[in-house]
Amino acid sequence: EKAGFDHFMLKEIYEQPKAYRDTMRGRISEDGRSVVLPELNMTPEILRGINRVHIVACGTAMHAGLVGKTIIEQLARIPVETDVASEYRYRSPIITPDTLVIVVSQSGETADTLAALREAQRCGARVLAITNVVGSSVAREADDVIITLAGPEIAVASTKAYTSQLIAFYLFGLYWAQTLGTKTADEVAHILAAMQSLPEQVEKILAQAETVKAVAEEISKHSNLFFIGRGLDYAVALEGSLKLKEISYIHSEAYAAGELKHGTLALIEDGIPVIALMTQEELYEKTLSNIKEVKARGAHVLGIINEGHEAEAAKSVDHQFAIPRTLTLLTPALSVVPLQLLSYYASLALGHDVDKPRNLAKSVTVE
Ligand code: F6R
Repeated sequence: EKAGFDHFMLKEIYEQPKAYRDTMRGRISEDGRSVVLPELNMTPEILRGINRVHIVACGTAMHAGLVGKTIIEQLARIPVETDVASEYRYRSPIITPDTLVIVVSQSGETADTLAALREAQRCGARVLAITNVVGSSVAREADDVIITLAGPEIAVASTKAYTSQLIAFYLFGLYWAQTLGTKTADEVAHILAAMQSLPEQVEKILAQAETVKAVAEEISKHSNLFFIGRGLDYAVALEGSLKLKEISYIHSEAYAAGELKHGTLALIEDGIPVIALMTQEELYEKTLSNIKEVKARGAHVLGIINEGHEAEAAKSVDHQFAIPRTLTLLTPALSVVPLQLLSYYASLALGHDVDKPRNLAKSVTVE
């Protein structure tokens, strides 16, 4: 049932191109120019009446929500807040009937997420669920549901569910943009075309898994490291760090690259690995100067860069991994893949139970 792979996690990492295709299938018009989401119960009028969004989820699903925030704000220009589900109810969030609450849950059974959904509905908000399980509690109770078609995810560490959630956010963000007219038809078509190249681009990344393996083996000798990035790269850094902690038990922290110098730089010492995400073109120079700050203190830097920046990046980083070119907004759907592989190979090198890490359950049904 692992289809020739040593672990479910690796199998699921390799299933991502299929998960992307399946999640997009039937949701893009035949001419490739618009998004169709017939499963939504909300009418375009309802969507036009929404003036704020709360995205609520746990763990990896919350990290997908952080990317979702940027997607919705950039495409539909509606303000979005993100919350960890276990915190949401207790901060008296301002939920009105014009608020759309988006809950994200692979399993659809996470207790905190379900409680947040119920609280949102109690306050009169509409709830949209992004979930991988048809008929799950979250899917049954939400007003609208977008199912991710990642297929069953067995490994405790979430991989293809996360990336499928990103695809769902891109589709919904574009659908919203075309409803409001915040993006032109040509802009929507342009983004959709780039999305349809993502599966093949992930395949290209997977074909280079061996280079990640070598770096992972090096990293597995350390007990502490950092992930840094700006903008969407920061959201992906958080997910990369969680994945590594979860299955390799190596401590890591994800930091907004520009925030390091406000205290954390004190922890950068000789030889410490720093994984630097450098895919946001407009923030590239700024991130580069943060890399210089850690390099000056002896950090060993792995840069996740865009193809085409190899020669330039080689001057600033010790190792690099290039992802294929895509639109800035779509980079998380590619840049997270080498980080998934990194945590997988680090866990493997340390001899841990990759698919069933200690102290964790696949579905967390307690608050
Ligand atoms: C990490 C991981 C967890 C889950 C979280 C939410 O790899 O799998 O952080 O993402 O427990 O689970 P769901 O998405 O089922 O609500």
